[in-house]
Amino acid sequence: MVLYTALFLVLNLGSQLIGAQHLQVGFYNNKCKDAELIVKEEVEKAFAKDNGIAPGLLRMHFHDTFVRGCDASILIDSTPGNLAEKDGPPNGITLRGFEVIYNAKARLEAECEGVVSCADILSFAARDSVHITGGMFWEVPAGRRDGRISRASETVDIPPPFGNLSVITQAFRKKGLTQDEMVALLGAHTIGRSHCTSFSNRLYNFSPTNSQDPTLNRFYASQLKQECPQGPGGSIDPNLVVEMNLSPALMDPSYFADVLKCRGLFTSDQTLTTSPQTKNQTEEYAGNGLIWQQDFVAAMIKMSQIEVLTGAPGERRSEIRSNCRRINP
Ligand code: HEM
Repeated sequence: MVLYTALFLVLNLGSQLIGAQHLQVGFYNNKCKDAELIVKEEVEKAFAKDNGIAPGLLRMHFHDTFVRGCDASILIDSTPGNLAEKDGPPNGITLRGFEVIYNAKARLEAECEGVVSCADILSFAARDSVHITGGMFWEVPAGRRDGRISRASETVDIPPPFGNLSVITQAFRKKGLTQDEMVALLGAHTIGRSHCTSFSNRLYNFSPTNSQDPTLNRFYASQLKQECPQGPGGSIDPNLVVEMNLSPALMDPSYFADVLKCRGLFTSDQTLTTSPQTKNQTEEYAGNGLIWQQDFVAAMIKMSQIEVLTGAPGERRSEIRSNCRRINP
């Protein structure tokens, strides 16, 4: 019963946001009726082989929305004259799951050519990724079009893992998201993995006075040091990865309990305990997973509508890309 009430609240919230943004739930019903089903099948197929696909796609969607909005600019390949977003510093070797979107797009082009945007495919796939890892399901308002520009230099809009509360809050505000929404979204760090290089400064060279970050739980720090040992000259193997937490395949609220135990992996996670407001919210989510689920879904629906291209009059150029890897000729 509680779950149904929560679900209703979430769907209701979703529909309030939709009108404001010109996107529609069921956008493809009359245009390409199996669009969402095909994306879901591709996510499921890939997940059966590698469950890391789910966190990979969720993160990819976040990174796409923070650079030029949700326009699938992250999916575009670099060319000799242009280093694309996917090869920018926060993406480079750490993003995964591209082939799931490319495969879904190939099937959709065969089924209904030129109809389903890469941006919508990515948004559906992020939703399916949350659902497949035991999280909530929600209806995704659709009708996004794809952008024609992708620049690695613009990935500076993606907040860094060493950012403190004011840095990361500012990055979310810049995209129209509140600090509360940011805290809810950070719960995504309950699934997946991280490369050691994304946080090794906290273990070995934190500051001139502390080699190890004093806000990091000591036992957790020594575990991480074992998983991410220093090589010659203090180097860290760029291929080494650790799991985000003890249940990295489950979309549960354990992230918030971890942060309260000083087991947040990044500075940007642990920083949630540094203000009374974000600490209270972290405690609330750690104690009540349903509230977090509702807030997470509402924030995802909002994030996935950042600066969308809908082909409205006066809008900058957009298209339905026929291959997600490159802009149409
Ligand atoms: C302050 C904001 C954020 C920062 C600084 C941040 C940073 C990071 C970093 C450094 C990694 C590890 C990448 C690697 O080394 O492999 C990561 C992973 C991840 N992030 Fe975030 N993130 C933020 C917000 C978000 C949001 C809003 C979402 C989604 C709603 C998200 C979803 C994920 C997921 C699912 C992973 C695991 C990826 C995988 O397993 O491949 N993150 N994040």
